[in-house]
Amino acid sequence: MACIVIAVLVCLSVAVVRAEDPYLFFTWNVTYGTISPLGVSQQGILINGEFPGPNINSTTNNNIVVNVHNNLDQPFLITWHGVQQRKNSWQDGTPGTNCPIPPGKNYTYHFQVKDQIGSYFYYPTTAMHRAAGGFGGLRINSRLLIPVPYADPEDDYTVLIGDWYSKSHTQLKSFLDGGRALGRPDGVLINGKSSKSKDNDKPIFTMKPGKTYKYRICNVGLKNSLNFRIQGHKMKLVEMEGSHTVQNIYESLDAHVGQCYGVLVTADQPPKDYYMVASTRFTKSVLTTTAVIGYTTGKDPASPDIPEAPVGWAWSLNQFRSFRWNLTASAARPNPQGSYHYGDINITRTIKLVNSASRSNGKLRYAINGVSHVDPDTPLKLAEYYEAPDKVFKYDIIPDSPPETDVATVTMEPNVANLTHRTYIEIIFENHEKSVQSYHLSGYSFFAVGIEPGKWTPEKRKNYNLLDAVSRHTIQVFPKTWAAIMTSFDNCGMWNLRSEAIERRYLGQQMYLSVISPERSLRDEYNIPDNALLCGVVKDLPKPPPYTI
Ligand SMILES: *[C@@H]1O[C@H](CO)[C@@H](O)[C@H](O)[C@H]1NC(C)=O
Ligand SMILES: *[C@@H]1O[C@H](CO)[C@@H](O)[C@H](O)[C@H]1NC(C)=O
Ligand SMILES: *[C@@H]1O[C@H](CO)[C@@H](O)[C@H](O)[C@H]1NC(C)=O
Ligand SMILES: *[C@@H]1O[C@H](CO)[C@@H](O)[C@H](O)[C@H]1NC(C)=O
Ligand SMILES: *[C@@H]1O[C@H](CO)[C@@H](O)[C@H](O)[C@H]1NC(C)=O
Ligand SMILES: *[C@@H]1O[C@H](CO)[C@@H](O)[C@H](O)[C@H]1NC(C)=O
Repeated sequence: MACIVIAVLVCLSVAVVRAEDPYLFFTWNVTYGTISPLGVSQQGILINGEFPGPNINSTTNNNIVVNVHNNLDQPFLITWHGVQQRKNSWQDGTPGTNCPIPPGKNYTYHFQVKDQIGSYFYYPTTAMHRAAGGFGGLRINSRLLIPVPYADPEDDYTVLIGDWYSKSHTQLKSFLDGGRALGRPDGVLINGKSSKSKDNDKPIFTMKPGKTYKYRICNVGLKNSLNFRIQGHKMKLVEMEGSHTVQNIYESLDAHVGQCYGVLVTADQPPKDYYMVASTRFTKSVLTTTAVIGYTTGKDPASPDIPEAPVGWAWSLNQFRSFRWNLTASAARPNPQGSYHYGDINITRTIKLVNSASRSNGKLRYAINGVSHVDPDTPLKLAEYYEAPDKVFKYDIIPDSPPETDVATVTMEPNVANLTHRTYIEIIFENHEKSVQSYHLSGYSFFAVGIEPGKWTPEKRKNYNLLDAVSRHTIQVFPKTWAAIMTSFDNCGMWNLRSEAIERRYLGQQMYLSVISPERSLRDEYNIPDNALLCGVVKDLPKPPPYTI
């Protein structure tokens, strides 16, 4: 009898070892260094000497271990934008989930890119560090046996576009701390360079004639929506923030801050150099930058005729509406994306979020439903895990549907909503302001079911796309417009819902969604990792009993 038990155990442990997914290990040294992306020297944040930081090239279900050594003079954290961190908000790297890594110290992130494919990036969430660097691409390839709805591209290129300031992150932070706005950025970068950089006429990527390449384009910028286009070449959209899309052809794409696209580009033009162009949208004066892509067989320079960008946000709204989920394509698993009928699920809660800007006491703040979020010294997730939330924050301080007048008065406090595990929730973003908003939700992807001008009412639901809206992680909200998203809150954790515009986020236009497992069960959420840094009130509290099966 005992023998049989042992045999079964041996068998089980072998199975566990076999089932373990591969590990990718990285050691990152985060330092200051001089960069001059706009032609003038400024202080940058480098990872292993690189700006932008290294690309992470992973495959579905890989375990990623990144030992981040903070050699800045300030506390530092990185978030993995779009990585869902199933049961694992411990690794989300926001001030609400992790204690920042103190200067001179290190923290090892350990997460799995579970059941995901697609184009993502990472960036710093502390202070205004993102305005100095510390960001880079993160791609998740499909496993070999899962069909991908297009032929293997010849190569795979990451294109990080974003607006940029030539002032240091400390100067920018002091503006915001002093109650001032950042003002207009000074330029736009493509992979850390601009038209004003040295050697900007040299190709950053080359293509063989006749071959097709994948370009992963992410807006890693600070504020502005950008239009991206490639001289003489069309882009076939194949993927968006982890979903395979219907493969429409585009001359140009609007990428709002925090959004990513995967496109195929065929080298079908006369062999010579061509410009990739990124330019700001919805701004009075347009900032533009170019980078060169070349053909292996032709060296002639790119034509100076830069293709024009579209004008106005109606164009951008129409483009949003043209994006469709490919219902028959496999996702990260072999089942078709469309087998999840998101439109048939009953909504259990509707939360309407209205953004606002205010100048209380002369100081600029941004808010959601009248609350301008502040990060407490104790990360919200740790306060919750240590069963001491009342020492740090209150749940549900904003109403689900704010009365019209309420958003005018702003209070400053941590903004945390209590969501019930496994409920299906509709979130409406209503933008009464004149600027475009871009919102990201950590821990999830959501169905972006509709964007329309005006105010949202329940009758607008009949205009939702309940069939093939793209499942994604970041959505724009045009001026005087609403946007609706829906998702099943099945991932326990403390999840940041934030404006991707750095100054809005820094000045309070963000909140957290808490989804807890009342049973404290490992089925729903991992335990706090052994190496978790502790800070604030939890430092002196006894460690609570771990979650159990
Ligand atoms: C990180 O880089 C700095 C500056 O180049 C260097 O002094 C330090 O030794 C490096 N640390 C690690 C852990 O590699
Ligand atoms: C990325 O990973 C894939 C799968 O392991 C591999 O085929 C490809 O060559 C890698 N690309 C780069 C640029 O390292
Ligand atoms: C810091 O790095 C060392 C190796 O350089 C590692 O052994 C240690 O676990 C890391 N600390 C944390 C908190 O991850
Ligand atoms: C959707 O995916 C399927 C399955 O891979 C593929 O055959 C089809 O061409 C794709 N459809 C479109 C419109 O992109
Ligand atoms: C959704 O709600 C309707 C009406 O309340 C009910 O008839 C239906 O069974 C529900 N559907 C699901 C999938 O729960
Ligand atoms: C959160 O909501 C659940 C009901 O969904 C409730 O049982 C729980 O008490 C709430 N927690 C707090 C702290 O408000």
